[in-house]
Amino acid sequence: MTIREFREADCEALVAILRANLQYGDPRNDGREGMLRVAACPAAVFLVAEEAGVPVGLVRGVYDGAKAFIHIVSVRPDCQRRGIGTALVREAARVLRDRGATNLTVTVPGDNLDFWKRLSFRLTKRVMEAHDIDDVAGGG
Ligand SMILES: CC(C)(COP(=O)(O)OP(=O)(O)OC[C@H]1O[C@@H](n2cnc3c(N)ncnc32)[C@H](O)[C@@H]1OP(=O)(O)O)[C@@H](O)C(=O)NCCC(=O)NCCS
Repeated sequence: MTIREFREADCEALVAILRANLQYGDPRNDGREGMLRVAACPAAVFLVAEEAGVPVGLVRGVYDGAKAFIHIVSVRPDCQRRGIGTALVREAARVLRDRGATNLTVTVPGDNLDFWKRLSFRLTKRVMEAHDIDDVAGGG
C-alpha cells in the first residue's frame, strides 16, 4: 500500500468508495468536480491510498494558517481493518504539520470514535453545519 497525492484518474474509484461507505453526499463536494476543486486548492490536503495501482482509500483536510482540519477519511469496505485509515490520517497529519499546523481537528468523526481515539483525538464538541451556504450568506 502506498499513499500519494490525489490524481484526476482516481475520481471514479473514490466516488465508488464514498458511495459504498454511505459518505457520498452533495455531488458539488463529493463528485468529480468537487474533487478537482479540492485538488486545486492550495490550502487543501487530498491523499489517496493505493494498492496494486487501485485506489483503496482517501483522506481530505485543510490548514487555514492557524487550524488544521480533516474532513473525511474513507477506506474501501473490503480493505478496512488493515491499517489503511490510520496510515492515511497519519500521513495527512505529517503534511499539515510540515505546513505549520500545530493542532488537528476532525470535523466528521462519524460512528467510529474508537478509530479516532486510537489516533489521539478526543471528543470535545460537536460541529454545526449550514448546508446550503446561501441560507447564511443570503441572496445575491
Ligand atoms: C473509519 C475508517 C476510515 C477506518 O479505516 P480502517 O483502515 O479500517 O482503520 P484501521 O485499520 O487503521 O483501524 C485502526 C483501529 O481503529 C479502530 N477501528 C477502525 N474501524 C473500526 C470500527 N468500524 N469499529 C470499531 N473500531 C474501529 C480499531 O481499534 C482499529 O484497530 P484494530 O483493527 O487493530 O482493532 C473506515 O472504517 C471507513 O472508511 N469507514 C467508513 C467511513 C467512515 O466512517 N469514516 C470516518 C468518518 S469521516
